Amino acid sequence: MGKITIAIDGYSSTGKSTIAKELASALNYNYVDTGAMYRAITLFACENNCIVNENIDHAKLIDLLPKANLKFQLNRELDLSEMFLNGKNVEQEIRSMRVSKQVSKISIIPEVREKLVSMQRKMGIDKGIVMDGRDIGTVVFPNAEFKIFMTASPDIRASRRYKELISKGEEVTFEEVLKNVRERDYIDSNRANSPLLKAEDAIEFDNSDMGLKEQFERIHYHALQVIEKQKKNA
Ligand code: DC
Repeated sequence: MGKITIAIDGYSSTGKSTIAKELASALNYNYVDTGAMYRAITLFACENNCIVNENIDHAKLIDLLPKANLKFQLNRELDLSEMFLNGKNVEQEIRSMRVSKQVSKISIIPEVREKLVSMQRKMGIDKGIVMDGRDIGTVVFPNAEFKIFMTASPDIRASRRYKELISKGEEVTFEEVLKNVRERDYIDSNRANSPLLKAEDAIEFDNSDMGLKEQFERIHYHALQVIEKQKKNA
C-alpha cells in the first residue's frame, strides 16, 4: 500500500540509471531501464540488416518488430536485471558504441515507441516502480507521483561515459563520445514523437557539480516525502 510510480528522465549519461537503481533498491521497488529496451531493438536492427551504411530501413524493421522478444531477467549474483533479446543476454552488447551511434535514430520510429511504451506501461501497472528514460514522466506515466528531470553539461556527461567505455575495454576517443552525446541530445530533444522534455511537474536536477551520494540523498528524501503524503491521502 502507498506505493508510487517514480519517473526519472533526462539527457544521456546524466547518471539516471545509477540513481534510479539505488532508489529502487532503497524503497524495495522494481527498476526498469527503458534505454536498455531501445538499445536492444537497435541491436536487433543491426543483427537483422536493417541498418545499411548508417541508414535505417524503417519498413524492414517495422516488419520484423514482432520477432524482437525483449525480457529483463534478474542476475541474482549481481543483483541487477539484465536485458535478454530473443533469449540471449545482450547486456554488454547494447552498451557498445556501435549501438549508441544508432539508437537515437531507431528511437524516432513510432512503431518502435508504441511497442516499448506498451510494455513499459504493463511493467508499471502495480506501481512500486522506478523507471528511467526520456519520456517516462511525459508519455509513459504522465500521472507518476514523483518525477525527476536530470541534466548535466555535455562535457561532464561525455567524460563520465568515456571513462565507463574505457574501463570496459572499448577503443574510443573522448571527442567521439562527446560528439555522440551531442548528437543524441539533439535527436532525442527534437524528434516529433515523444521528444525529451521536462514534464511540467518534474523536479529538475543538474548534477554537473554534485556527487552521487548527495544526489541520492536528496532524491531519496523527496521520494520518501511523496510516499508519506500518498499514504496519508490513501
Ligand atoms: O538512457 P540511454 O542513454 O541508455 O538511452 C539510449 C537511447 O534510447 C537514447 O539516446 C534515446 C532512447 N530512449 C528513448 O527514446 N526513450 C526512452 N524512454 C529511453 C531511451
